[in-house]
Amino acid sequence: MDNTQEKMDKIISLAKRRGFIYPGSEIYGGLQNSWDFGPLGAEMKINIKTEWWNYFVRKRGDMVGVDTALIMNNKVWESSGHLANFSDPLSECKKCHRRFRTDHLELDAKCPDCDGELSASRQFNMMLKTYLGVTEEKASEVYFRPETAQGMFVNFQNIIDSLRIKLPFGVAQIGKAFRNEITPGNYIFRTREFEQMEIEYFIPAPKKDSDWQTHFESWRVDMQKWIAHIGIKPDEIYELDIPQNELAHYSKRTIDFEYYFPFGRKELYGLAYRTDFDLKNHGIKYHNNETGEEYYPHVIEPTFGVERTLLAAICSAYTEEDAPTSEENETEKRVVMKFPKWLAPIKIAVLPLSKKDELISVSQKLASDLRQNFVVAYDETQSIGKRYRRQDEIGTPYCLTVDFDSLTDGKVTVRDRDTMKQDRINISESAKYLKEKMAESI
Ligand code: GAP
Repeated sequence: MDNTQEKMDKIISLAKRRGFIYPGSEIYGGLQNSWDFGPLGAEMKINIKTEWWNYFVRKRGDMVGVDTALIMNNKVWESSGHLANFSDPLSECKKCHRRFRTDHLELDAKCPDCDGELSASRQFNMMLKTYLGVTEEKASEVYFRPETAQGMFVNFQNIIDSLRIKLPFGVAQIGKAFRNEITPGNYIFRTREFEQMEIEYFIPAPKKDSDWQTHFESWRVDMQKWIAHIGIKPDEIYELDIPQNELAHYSKRTIDFEYYFPFGRKELYGLAYRTDFDLKNHGIKYHNNETGEEYYPHVIEPTFGVERTLLAAICSAYTEEDAPTSEENETEKRVVMKFPKWLAPIKIAVLPLSKKDELISVSQKLASDLRQNFVVAYDETQSIGKRYRRQDEIGTPYCLTVDFDSLTDGKVTVRDRDTMKQDRINISESAKYLKEKMAESI
């Protein structure tokens, strides 16, 4: 179907109805673009983070991980340049006092809401403040981190001391970040609270451009592979080289991996060459014990948003197609989430053909056995066709149907989400069969 707002509306409604994503604080009228993740959304976020960690940390020899504090000493943000530079240009309406990103407005624009006159543009810092201490007056003002990156920079020396690791190597972290975004929106695309999966890859101080460019290009390829791994096709991505005058304060080169969301082409991930900006500002040098050299390492930074990963994966997986019904030559529309199997929130659904006690007890035992290895749903309500459609809609790769023959032949019908083909397999071998199937690529 067309990549339009209509598609987005369908996804938002399906995601709410089926337990992927709920509006935050809904029973109290919500809270400015905050979102909660329901049972299926929570499963998917865990799948994304675990797969990412395995992919970029555990399966590589040159990566380690950390998990650092959300609130850091204010000096971190002075040194990193965030207190001075992490801001958006804003204009305020003199009539209704709403603020707008100046760079999103046309020249000489009026207030988009009430047509009032707009003030001159001024910088507005996006760091989210809070207070540490017993009473608010005495407490010190601190900030929630706007990126996970700084926790990795400030621990650089600790990591070297603990692991005796040599350059080049990378540090990864997954965790929450907060930004006082002025224009949050587009569903879970831009929120004030979100999760990042970031890598700071430390390399020796380059002697020539190709020294950092080689690492940059190699990370670019790794990011492309990860994007394919979450089920996104190359033609759904645009790699935008950010112009020099729009680079973040720490970057010498950045590529944004932009995804064609239904609401437009927007940043999914970023890859930046942060030079020695951060370690130099924190005054952290690397000492090469073999050569005696001392210098500030440079950094290549691949960065990924968890919620944007989820949103792009959902948009790419969402499919409407004609499927045959039980009537000859008849079809009906089916909605199916064609998630890669590793990403699907539920891997297997066990469905007894009827509510007869004998079928239910075999089915419940099968579901409970399979739960030792997979996330399993059990569903005994409504017709089998409707139950298949319900599982298709949430992207469950396999449905196992227990019927009356199962009681005598010890077999169940396994149905494949994408091909809708059905097979008979032995109940006793179902765990092995499904493990092999799950290991097959997308
Ligand atoms: N450490 C570098 C850094 O933070 P960024 O491009 O500002 O760079 C990295 O953010 C990633 O975090 C983005 O590519 C995006 O996936 C995600 N992200 C950034 N701001 C976000 C927001 N307000 N809501 C959701 N995700 C966001």
